[in-house]
Amino acid sequence: MSDNGTRRDFLYVATTAVGAVGAAAAAWPFIDYLNPDAAERALASIEVNIADLQEGQSITVMWRGKPIFIRYRTPQEIADAEAVAMSDLKDPFAQNANLSPEDPSTDPNRSVPGEQQYIIMIANCTHFGCIPTGESGEYGGWYCPCHGSQFDTAGRVRAGPAARNLDIPPYKKDGDVIVIG
Ligand code: FES
Repeated sequence: MSDNGTRRDFLYVATTAVGAVGAAAAAWPFIDYLNPDAAERALASIEVNIADLQEGQSITVMWRGKPIFIRYRTPQEIADAEAVAMSDLKDPFAQNANLSPEDPSTDPNRSVPGEQQYIIMIANCTHFGCIPTGESGEYGGWYCPCHGSQFDTAGRVRAGPAARNLDIPPYKKDGDVIVIG
């Protein structure tokens, strides 16, 4: 074999070895992703940076396969929700996983303490699970087009067939980051 041939063979072998290492490294996260425990751990909680979310804006993120509404409410929306008499609410409970099940559905109880401007809710209608439309309906909150349930600016059911307020998932706010789950 000539010197050139030897060098070519060496380069070929060296390149193949690097390629194999690269493929193994690339495959590992995919294999790990297929591990149900790892996938479940990864989905158990999510972090959402809301630094760019402006007053009056909403975003929807996915958590454990469910859409989650995050809305930065306006002062008017908060004032409207606070003005509602408890006796006008269909569901008297906060339905807030961060509080006790018996806590009443006052407007502050629909957020975590000190963060009343943000409302964070599982976006499935509590009737049959459709996704309500925001800033809609008679109460200025969410309107579910499937069967006409209406929710106010705190996500509390006010009319239609739904019997429960939109559910609030476990979350905490840490600076600009909301950790859900
Ligand atoms: S699913 Fe929303 S009103 Fe029926």
